Amino acid sequence: MPRIVETIVSTSDKDGNVHIAPLGLIAEGKHWIIAPFKPSKTLENLRAHPFAAASHTDDVRVFAGCVTGRKDWPLTPTAEIKGGRLADCLSHWELKVEDIIEDDLRPRFRCKIVHQEAHGAWQGFSRAQAAVLELAVLTTRLKMLPPEKVESELKYLEIAILKTASLQEEEAWGWLMEKITAWRGTLIKPVDLKG
Ligand SMILES: Cc1cc2nc3c(=O)[nH]c(=O)nc-3n(C[C@H](O)[C@H](O)[C@H](O)COP(=O)(O)O)c2cc1C
Repeated sequence: MPRIVETIVSTSDKDGNVHIAPLGLIAEGKHWIIAPFKPSKTLENLRAHPFAAASHTDDVRVFAGCVTGRKDWPLTPTAEIKGGRLADCLSHWELKVEDIIEDDLRPRFRCKIVHQEAHGAWQGFSRAQAAVLELAVLTTRLKMLPPEKVESELKYLEIAILKTASLQEEEAWGWLMEKITAWRGTLIKPVDLKG
């Protein structure tokens, strides 16, 4: 399996408006593949302006925030490409699309790093951060997964939160749980014929 790095990808539309979304960048030799599902703003932007920044952050609230409607994270201009990146990140890559592998579901944009910078020191792994990332991904797939699978994965991931979460992870988890609670409300309940 290729290495996949979970990052905050920023792309720009034709007017220069920057859009951010969490995406997994797939390693392929010296290249990184951005593979956005159709339809998505990231995909639309990459076609209009074939450049992106990948911001690496250990603040998992940005991942949870982006998938729960909280996209207003501070941005700063990129150094070599036209666009923006997270102002508060540990490092970032600036990427240029070299070619596109078309696909009906998920085109692949093969990118080369044209610039990279470090901005802070990485503080190490935490199980709670990984759990937030997993739940964030899960919340983007709620309509595709059987409810029992969502509930059993949630139960497992919650252990890491209860044991190792800092305030940041607790906040991120809370936002994701609001989304899970809303989704639970949309599930069709079995009719109680005796009732
Ligand atoms: C950790 C993480 C990784 C993700 N990776 C991808 C990805 O590789 N491709 C994708 O289409 N969506 C991915 N998603 C879901 C997108 O962030 C989400 O669907 C987003 O809204 C993209 O659509 P947009 O560009 O219209 O904002 C990921 C979400 C998370 C939390």
